Order: sequence, then structure tokens, then C-alpha cells
Amino acid sequence: METLDGMPRTHHCGQLSKNDVDREVVVCGWVSRRRDHGGLIFVDLRDRSGLVQTVFAEDKIGNEAFPKAESLRSEFVIAVRGRVSLRSEETVNPHMPTGEIEIYCEELRILNTAQTPPFYIQDNIDVDETLRLKYRYLDLRRPEMQKNIILRHRVTKIMRDYFDRNDFLEIETPMLTKSTPEGARDFLVPSRLNPGKFYALPQSPQIFKQILMLAGYEKYFQIVRCFRDEDLRADRQPEFTQLDIEMSFVDQEYILNTMENMVVELFAKAVDAKVPGPFLRMTWQDAMDRFGSDKPDLRFGMELMDISDYVRGSEFKVFESVLQNKGQVKVINVKAYAGIPRRELDGLVEYVKNYGAKGLAWIQYTDSEIKSPFKKFYSEETFLKIKEAAGAETGDLLLVVADKPLVVAQALGELRLEMARRRNLIDPDKLSFLWVVDFPMFEYGEEDKRWKAMHHPFTAPCEEDVQYLLSDPGRVKAKAYDMVLNGTEIGGGSLRIYNSDLQEKVFEAIGLTPEQAHAKFGFMLDAFKYGTPPHGGLAFGLDRLVMIMAKRDSIRDVIAFPKTQSASCLMTQAPSDVDNKQLRDLSIKTTVAAKKHKED
Ligand code: AMO
Ligand code: AMP
Repeated sequence: METLDGMPRTHHCGQLSKNDVDREVVVCGWVSRRRDHGGLIFVDLRDRSGLVQTVFAEDKIGNEAFPKAESLRSEFVIAVRGRVSLRSEETVNPHMPTGEIEIYCEELRILNTAQTPPFYIQDNIDVDETLRLKYRYLDLRRPEMQKNIILRHRVTKIMRDYFDRNDFLEIETPMLTKSTPEGARDFLVPSRLNPGKFYALPQSPQIFKQILMLAGYEKYFQIVRCFRDEDLRADRQPEFTQLDIEMSFVDQEYILNTMENMVVELFAKAVDAKVPGPFLRMTWQDAMDRFGSDKPDLRFGMELMDISDYVRGSEFKVFESVLQNKGQVKVINVKAYAGIPRRELDGLVEYVKNYGAKGLAWIQYTDSEIKSPFKKFYSEETFLKIKEAAGAETGDLLLVVADKPLVVAQALGELRLEMARRRNLIDPDKLSFLWVVDFPMFEYGEEDKRWKAMHHPFTAPCEEDVQYLLSDPGRVKAKAYDMVLNGTEIGGGSLRIYNSDLQEKVFEAIGLTPEQAHAKFGFMLDAFKYGTPPHGGLAFGLDRLVMIMAKRDSIRDVIAFPKTQSASCLMTQAPSDVDNKQLRDLSIKTTVAAKKHKED
């Protein structure tokens, strides 16, 4: 193989333009494409900055060097010295930023060869994601992936600059730590030096950032890896990155404003997008009532409407039994879709069942008639009143769910999103931000029959609700807020409890005995007794934010080395078996490993 000795790179491929014509340059990179035209070979050369066309003419580089050019294959690594020249008018490529020029090669060095890659190194390839993840280094070489990763770098740089300018300090917190309650399972790390004991990887730096506030650092941020062992989806990874923030001596207004300013600056600088402020604020209750979601997508309407009062007191058992059990009957209006095919309607019934609804009904206001499975139970007048209440017109379709409020919200909320996708109602270029505020402090966990903190147990309850903490936890509101963008929760946080008595009371409300609370968080409760300032903060999901900025559907496309749905890395094959000696050193025995080794 040849080296670069004596031929240092002068330019990046994508940088060259008409202004460089006649200049002698040295460019390096990977062979993207080679085309042979007899005594003339064209090679598109790719580096991080883009592509440029290089030309090897037999009469220019000589008979000896020409076969070298003929030997070039895709993804060979080469260096080319040559002169930039203007392309003739017919050969200009308007789809290529460097399409007006080409480099006539005077010297070629082959720095490395390459095997034929298992897929094309180019944008918009139709390749199974498992193959992309196995050969992630080749996938990452594709221009669109490089764009995403470079955008991610720009995003964190802008964030760091913003926080630095606003007097925040970036402080690191430990990865080997104790469990932090964010509601997911912990990843555990065995301690060799303390047999039988385990560290937990942080689900977030929550406790440490609060401790930093009482330690007097006042404004903290960190771009930090968090670990949560939970079921994965397109917008969730077992390890992901947060932009984590905490501040002292501030109120909610200050926190929300500071964050809004950061986000506006970020979108302007990173993707040249104008985000209008101030952001809309919506209470959690409103979001649930109107959109059936605590992270409403406001890029389109189709709000949920309550028609309980119109359908009450009829012979229709489905509605009547729901209404008598503190339930409700709500609709969404799918504009101009009264002509929905019957088969699609049947599919929608199955769709809402996935979200807990027992069934789905509808009203079709067609030109000629009103069609509905419950038509015979109500007068035409009632159907017209419902039409008016739902803001419907002739030609519209109402989809109806009757159930308990949370089930109606979930089923109709999801159906609303699904119908918007099917009817193409979502403008992909729109950025729709809002704050959801006034969250409930607790939610009831049906599986283990106890109240849980909806955000986390360090969140401050609203003063007027403190009296209900133990007697009626369901009515306590929290000083918590989420930032939502296009239907994705991109960040969330709260004002914190800074008084250990109140903190102990909240632990009690979620069913921790004082002994359990002290075993888990004793150091924190003790620390709070040494002069804790009022404080609060939030954390953004960096991967989600970059995913939306890059207009991708999966956070895996903005993470260099992501995991699959089954939490494995296809490139390194992690997680993997370890040998028995390692397990012995850690004083660990696994039942799975024992079985496996016996088979061996
Ligand atoms: P929360 O649990 O809401 O708050 O997390 C903050 C943000 O992190 C992102 N996020 C995730 N992104 C990718 N994969 C995951 N598995 C994942 N889980 C969460 C979301 C979410 O909004 N300590 C608190 C913050 C605080 O109170 O200051 C916390 O972690 O975008
Ligand atoms: P059933 O008596 O279960 O056959 O239901 C009669 C009709 O009521 C069905 O065709 C559905 O359209 C509708 N339906 C059933 N359950 C619900 C529900 N939970 N919400 C709305 N409509 C329902």
C-alpha cells in the first residue's frame, strides 16, 4: 500500500468549486463510483464533506499509472493530486454541489483496498436495518448518516455555548451509582470488591443534580448518558442521552423561559428554523380531554368531543352502562370521510381494541343519509345535535368510543393520530411546540395496586394540595412540566421538594415505609437538612430532539451505535457470554450460564 508521505491533503472534496479552477489540489477519500470510458476513467471521490469527480486520462497520467486507476474498486481509499478544471457545459451535474468542476488527476495513490460492501454506500438505500446495524461503520459512511451525526455534534455545541453564556456549569456525575427512581428497571453492575453488591447505572442524574444545588453550584447542566432497562420502541433506547439541567433560586416561569430561549436559539442555529415563542401552555387535564394524550400533536386539529349529554338516557346498553359507571362517550371528527370503506371501519374497531377500548362506533353523515350502528336508538334530531356539537358537516365521519375517561383518552387519542396519518393531515415541515403543565402528582398502578409518582418522587406538589398527599393522592397536582414537540415528549422536569419532612411524606404516599425510604434515599434526606435552596430543572431527550430536527422516524438514525429492539448491538454482538472465571471473580452464578455450560 502507498502512503500519503510528501502529498499532504490540501482540500476536502465537497469544498471545491469554480473558484478553484486551475488550482493544483490534493484530495483524499473513498471511491464512491468508477466509470470506465476507454482511455478515460471517472471516479467520484467521497470524504466527509461530500463528493467530487476525479478524472484519470491515460494520456495525462501515463501508461504506467493508468492500470492503477483501472484497478480501483468501490470503497478503496485513495489520494489524488491533480488540477481543478471546469466541466464542459454538457457534462455539468446540477445535482452535485461540486458538479461544475472535476479534478484531472496527475498522481494517484492507493492508500488501502476494500472488500465489496454488503450494500451501497449512498442515501435512500432499501436495506434491512439489521444489515445496516451489523455493518454500522459502512452505514455511518453514507452521506445522510454523516449529516445526522454532524447535526448532533452541532446541536450539543450550541447547547454548551448557550448554557456557558448563561452561567451554567457542566458537571459530571457518576455512572456507577445507586438506583435513581425514574420508573424503569435498573441496569446493574456487580462489584468485584464488594461481593454480592451491585451498582446501578443511572436512569438519570436526578439525585446528584439536586445534591449539586444544595452544594451551592446554582446552575448545572450536563450532556449525559442515561440507562433504562425498559421495552424499546422507535423513540426509546436502553442507553440514551439527556441534556440535563438544574437551577436554584428560580421559579417555574424562569425555568420554562430559559428553556424556551435555548430551544428557539437551537433550532435557529442548527437547522435554520424559526420557532415562534412564547410556547403554548396547556394543562395536563386539557391535553387529555381535548387530545387524549399528555403529549398532544398540535400540527392538526381533530379534537376529542364529549357527546355524553346527547346520548344519555337511551335504550342503547353500550352507552348507558358506560355512562352509569362514571364513563363518557366521546368522538373525533374525520373530515370528509363519511364514505370510509366498511372494511376500513372494521379494521379501526380492532385498532382501538389494542388501546383498551371494548369497541368502536361511528356516525357517517353522508349526502343521502345518516349511518350508524346505534341509529335506531336515537332520533334524527339527536344525530343533528351531535353533528353540530362535533362541528361536523355533511360528508364527515364521527368515530365514537364509550368507556372510562382514561380508556377513551388513550383509544381516541391514538385513533386521532392514526386517522391523521391515513388522511395525510400532518404537515411534516411544521414545528409544533407546547408545554404541558399541572401534571397529577401520582398515578395509580393497577398491577401492584399502589400510587406511584407520575414524574418522580422528588417533584414538589402544589402547595394547596399538600393536605391531600396521604388522604386523597389522586387529586394532588404537581409542579411538573413537559416540553412536547410534534407529539413527542422531548423534555420534562419539575420544581423539587427541598424540605425533608415533605419529602418523607411523599415517600409515604407512594408506599415506602420510613425504613425503606431511609435505606434508599437516607443520604439525600440527611443532606436536605443542611440548607437546601429551592430548586428545579428538567431534562431533554437529546436523541429525540435530534431525530425530529433531522426529520427521521427513529432515534437509531441519530445515534452512532444504537441497540436493536432486543437491546443488543449487532456490530459488537453485545451482550455476550462471559467466561466462568469472570463470573467467579464477581461472585456471580447465573442459572442460564450454568445450563449452557453443562451442555458444553
Ligand atoms: P424523564 O424521565 O422525563 O425525566 O426523561 C427526560 C427525557 O429523556 C427522554 N427519554 C428517553 N429518550 C430515549 N430513550 C429512552 N429510553 C428515554 N427515556 C426518556 C425523553 C424525556 O422527556 N430526571 C428527570 C428530569 C428532571 O426532572 O429534571 C428525567 O429523567 O425525551
Ligand atoms: P355490541 O352490543 O357489543 O354488539 O355493540 C353494538 C355496537 O356498539 C357495536 O357495533 C359498536 O359499534 C358499538 N360499541 C360497542 N362497544 C363500544 C364502545 N366501548 N364504544 C363505542 N362503541 C361501542
